[in-house]
Amino acid sequence: MPKKLFIKTYGCQMNVYDSARMADVLAAKGYAACDAPEDADLVLINTCHIREKAADKLYSELGRLNALQRFRRAMGQDLRIAVAGCVAQAEGEEMQRRAPFVDVVVGPQAYHRLGDLIDALEKTNTKSVDTAFPSDSKFDALPAHTSSESSAFLTVQEGCDKFCTFCVVPYTRGAEYSRPLADVQAEAERLVELGAREITLLGQNVNAYHGERADGGRCSFGELVRRLAEIPSLRRIRYTTSHPLDMDADLIRAHAEVPALMPFIHLPVQSGSDRVLAAMNRRHSADDYRRVVDALRTARPDLALSGDFIVGFPGEDDDDFAATLRLVEDVGYANAYSFKYSPRAGTPAAERAQLGDEVKDERLAVLNAALAAQRRRFDEATVGRTIDVLLERPGRMPGQLAGRSPYMQAVHVDGPEDRLGTVAAVTIVSANPNSLTGRLA
Ligand code: SAH
Ligand code: SF4
Ligand code: F3S
Repeated sequence: MPKKLFIKTYGCQMNVYDSARMADVLAAKGYAACDAPEDADLVLINTCHIREKAADKLYSELGRLNALQRFRRAMGQDLRIAVAGCVAQAEGEEMQRRAPFVDVVVGPQAYHRLGDLIDALEKTNTKSVDTAFPSDSKFDALPAHTSSESSAFLTVQEGCDKFCTFCVVPYTRGAEYSRPLADVQAEAERLVELGAREITLLGQNVNAYHGERADGGRCSFGELVRRLAEIPSLRRIRYTTSHPLDMDADLIRAHAEVPALMPFIHLPVQSGSDRVLAAMNRRHSADDYRRVVDALRTARPDLALSGDFIVGFPGEDDDDFAATLRLVEDVGYANAYSFKYSPRAGTPAAERAQLGDEVKDERLAVLNAALAAQRRRFDEATVGRTIDVLLERPGRMPGQLAGRSPYMQAVHVDGPEDRLGTVAAVTIVSANPNSLTGRLA
């Protein structure tokens, strides 16, 4: 009988990709996925460190798993517990001290060795912590994909050298690294063979990609997009997350010239105030960002934007916040995210004088209202239009299919299951709070 594996994933899309790859690694060790920790022989938690108290919340979740583990052992069975991702990276050995019942701690750059770590556990009951940044690429050691959804993730770039003063990513994911072009092409082709019609290219700074070409030269992100667009049957290419500084002319041109490149970009700016942007070490001004957005919209007039904002950064005053609201009005977002600044230990901004929670909450509410209104307007503007929808999965109601518009809106339509995995023309009939309803055109 196959052993059962339950994976719980927190954080960004890169963690979603990593979880799928860890499932592939563990499949080779005889583990099949299951839907609940209660059914599992091995529980793997893939963690995120971006939010406040991420570690504390993880330890409480581990406490509950420990109770399940003790119950199992009392019944003469077992439960193994593994922790991966960015909290694993940040905590390392500390996790063995605070949660000694955890069997394996593995960082985001070391999980290709998870198979060996599980072997050591099963054969000699050896627990391990592996949070190294090995010099060999984990991507070379990962097994090939064995299945794919119609919309797939593909990590092409990892890590970050930008060191925004609020962010833990450069510490948990390490230095910037780009996979060679040929590797990315091979993985994309494999995913398409397995049924992917949309691929989202992932990286903490995905448009900083500069992978090696076969001729030894460097391939820019714009060129990567063009090469992948040559794959027959790949209908859609997306990418996330991009940084305004790395949005070069070639990539902007690709938005005009590559039909498969979807007209929707997640382009975080964090603040509309130059003073705050400087304190964040973003290395661009609010007007630099406006210029990038204008250039993108000139290249692709129907382009829609998403973004991330932080309110209550140390030193942010009312004028700074007003500048953020102005930027939001100028850009007009389809769907953006806002966060209350939370100090992360080890980052420079955590050492500065902090704003009170009240002012942060107030600003967050104001910004959220502005972004929600923009989102509603954007969704309502699609009503009556006929747009392409990649039909990805059965909907919640019988006879219903669910998919995504070019702008990442969730769309529900009535239609036959044999349309799944295809791009269909859909006329949007109504906009609901979290999705659109349409009919096949
Ligand atoms: N690489 C991406 C973002 C990675 S983190 C980029 O450069 O834009 C995702 C988002 O979390 C960030 O865009 C930021 O808005 C938010 N974030 C990161 N650290 C934070 C912190 N300490 N407090 C509040 N929000 C934070
Ligand atoms: Fe974090 Fe800034 Fe790097 Fe994005 S660019 S991952 S926000 S340090
Ligand atoms: Fe979180 Fe790590 Fe992604 S901190 S956002 S899982 S890179």
